[in-house]
Amino acid sequence: MKFNKLLLPLLTGLALTSIPTLSNAGVAERYDASCATCHSSGAFNAPQKGDAPYWNKLKTEKGMPALVKSVKLGGKQMPAGGLCADCKTSQDYAELIDYMSK
Ligand code: HEC
Repeated sequence: MKFNKLLLPLLTGLALTSIPTLSNAGVAERYDASCATCHSSGAFNAPQKGDAPYWNKLKTEKGMPALVKSVKLGGKQMPAGGLCADCKTSQDYAELIDYMSK
């Protein structure tokens, strides 16, 4: 029973600490599993995550709906959907684009 007494607070603690960050972690994990393949590696000369001036310029010039559309349809070198297996809505893509513009 000593084991359970140690384990329970640990598990409860883990569950509690992960709740507030859940939505952010979701975007980060999604990004790492898809867009990062190119947007964090420089592959295919993709614009890089964190290049805020570049992304802000794109957002102002084209607007978020157009950027979301680009990802859905694919680009010159970007595959349609950007390799995101579980992105379903435009909101999913918009969140990823926001995430990588910071
Ligand atoms: C296989 C590489 C690759 C992956 C994976 C990828 N991209 Fe891209 N992306 C590119 C390249 C290269 C460009 C530069 C323009 C082009 O070739 O389409 C680009 C451009 C973009 C643009 C600018 C489009 C425009 O209209 O100017 C956005 C927004 C974007 N990517 C978002 C994403 C998101 C969101 C994901 C993940 C769901 C993603 N990309 C995954 C390679 C990739």
